[in-house]
Amino acid sequence: MFNLNDIIRPNVLKMKAYSSARDEFKGAASVFLDANENSLGSLAGENYNRYPDPQQKKLKQRIAEIKGVKPEQIFLGNGSDEAIDLLFRMVCRPGHDSMLHLPPTYGMYEVSANLNEVEMQAVQLTADFQIPVEEVLLSIKPETKLIFICSPNNPTGNLIEPESIEDILLGFKGLVVVDEAYIDFSAQPSWTTRLQEFSNLVVLQTFSKAWGMAALRLGLAFASEEVIAVMNKIKPPYNINQATQVLAQQALEREEALRDMVEETVQERELLLHALPSLPTVEHVYPSDANFILVKVKDANGLYNYLLDKGIVVRNRSSLAGCEGCLRISIGTLEENQKLLQAIAEFGTKD
Ligand SMILES: Cc1ncc(COP(=O)(O)O)c(C=O)c1O
Repeated sequence: MFNLNDIIRPNVLKMKAYSSARDEFKGAASVFLDANENSLGSLAGENYNRYPDPQQKKLKQRIAEIKGVKPEQIFLGNGSDEAIDLLFRMVCRPGHDSMLHLPPTYGMYEVSANLNEVEMQAVQLTADFQIPVEEVLLSIKPETKLIFICSPNNPTGNLIEPESIEDILLGFKGLVVVDEAYIDFSAQPSWTTRLQEFSNLVVLQTFSKAWGMAALRLGLAFASEEVIAVMNKIKPPYNINQATQVLAQQALEREEALRDMVEETVQERELLLHALPSLPTVEHVYPSDANFILVKVKDANGLYNYLLDKGIVVRNRSSLAGCEGCLRISIGTLEENQKLLQAIAEFGTKD
């Protein structure tokens, strides 16, 4: 049985959260002299001289309605990268505990593990980028506290089979983090719909992809109220700035525009998935449920540099184990994708 108190670091269990001025005073007042702010105003305009709501209540309330969870099940981070780092600091004792991830996958799990001096257990995805579940379950040690599963996976683009994730959730007494940064581009339901079933499930999402708000840095973690309470306890008090809180609330009222953008991106993705395989230099195009495509080509470094010369930058993933010869291509606008296809076609006809 999963017991959260068994895996939280003893120092985290014991510590008290920082109590900010905005936490301590909750009523209405007309004169705020409690937070050493600049009472004269802000050179940036708006009310930017005032600290933002440390608990982001209005924003969480609206997200909760849209996602069908309680506000207490939501943690908001300065990008989902902040949530990843906090999860390490919450359950992994430096120099003692370990995490397990499934390469080729998103690189920040490894970076955060290194930063936090946490041992990394890597179980390679299978040739079709699925989880070898038996191997994962056999690799779990008493020190393993976190398992990161990225679905749709970056950089491969595919969804991970739900049955595999379920087996790991049931067979592991630590936290299973399902990173759904790209879920809006997929027809699969989010794992947020299954939070009631699994108390060790943490789902990550972000406003950086489908919502088009990468510059504002807003990531989300969904989990049980108990897990989220600990994440909130250890986060920096004012981690989501005022501009981001306000702009995200406005964006949340534009769900139709979100759907339109996702639809257009998916349409463009399908066009690329259809067009790329017929180009001479392309060896394999992997299926994608995300806003990018992994493409295996004859000469990845050559094509990468050729595209750069044409002013087109893609991600060269050819040095990653499992992605040899591969470029990862984000879906662009119609014009950008046509330019890309034309350039790849030209490269393929060169001597
Ligand atoms: C799988 C995955 N998770 C998380 C992130 C980070 O998202 P954020 O911008 O919210 O920090 C990315 C960004 O590329 C990603 O690919």
